[in-house]
Amino acid sequence: MTLALETRGADLGRFNTFGLPGRAARLVHVRAAEQLRALAREPDWAHTPRLVLGGGSNLVLGGDFAGIVLKVDIAGRRLLRAEAEAWIVEAGAGENWHDFVRWTLAQGWPGLENLSLIPGTVGAAPIQNIGAYGLEIVDRFDSLDAIDLDTGAARSFGVADCGFGYRDSVFKRQPGRWLVTAVRFRLPRPWQPVTRYADVARELAARGIEVPGALDISDAVIAIRRRKLPDPAEIGNAGSFFKNPVVEADACARLLAAHPAMPHYPQADGREKLAAGWLIEQVGWKGRDLGPVGCYERQALVLVNRGGATGADVRRIADAIMADVEARFGVRLEPEPVFV
Ligand code: EPU
Repeated sequence: MTLALETRGADLGRFNTFGLPGRAARLVHVRAAEQLRALAREPDWAHTPRLVLGGGSNLVLGGDFAGIVLKVDIAGRRLLRAEAEAWIVEAGAGENWHDFVRWTLAQGWPGLENLSLIPGTVGAAPIQNIGAYGLEIVDRFDSLDAIDLDTGAARSFGVADCGFGYRDSVFKRQPGRWLVTAVRFRLPRPWQPVTRYADVARELAARGIEVPGALDISDAVIAIRRRKLPDPAEIGNAGSFFKNPVVEADACARLLAAHPAMPHYPQADGREKLAAGWLIEQVGWKGRDLGPVGCYERQALVLVNRGGATGADVRRIADAIMADVEARFGVRLEPEPVFV
């Protein structure tokens, strides 16, 4: 199917999980990479603002978008190769992430279970190197195909080309440049469970599971997420709104002297990752609202749309939280979603 499905003045409210209002001058459903080559040949293409949209779960929409929104609807999933040391599985960028994870488990190709129930699409997963419960995309990544939207040319990226970091990649650093069309995952054989994250270990123990299989871990992660995180289908949100800040070891030591209970996680480079949710809770924002946007009562890292919020409302509470955390701890939080 290569037919472009295009709408003018499209309502973007249902294409962002925060439920923020805005319209797109043009919205194109991208079903195949070939459509993009045609778009890139349009005369005013170089000057047209572009927004690539997957599940819209990592987006703060500031209002109307004057350019073209490319909604990625590329489908397909298959086993590409069974190697001695890994299953190589490929999915179209438009596939729903969680459905894809559960499908791989049902097929007997485990490895993505810790990333169960993360909202969004397969194509969006590598953009911010999604991670949860002890695993990140980079740990299971093989390669991806993308279109350079500046030229319409196709290119493949190996892991070294992607510049993955914590909630970061080359794609996130160049907004509007790349449209991911397909992603390949390398699922190691034999499978090894990842259960070092305290919440996961606790949940498995509570279920009386001593030797977990991949489905047990997936089910445990789903249960933990349902307890802590609001379902975007019920209450608008974009997941973690701030990144966990990474600070120098001496800055962390100074903070610990004043706040001995502060959670902190040593990083490979000697720095320390702090828990933004803890910092936000300490300054009293957890469960508090500013206008129609709230700081979620069960996980302070998440902002929620209590009804009728705009992008400006989200910005206002985010700025207020950041100012309070900086004043108290000297730590500058960085928002995680993309502001448009
Ligand atoms: N904490 C608080 N108060 C809160 C929230 C957290 O004190 O309101 C403390 C917890 O007690 C714990 C620490 O902060 O000591 C870490 O909390 P948690 O395990 O809930 O994880 P997180 O650091 O808040 C990160 C990811 C989540 C991911 C979980 C599990 C980021 C920005 N967020 O949250 O990712 O699900 O770890 O791995 O790294 C997302 O990106 O949208 C997301 C939900």
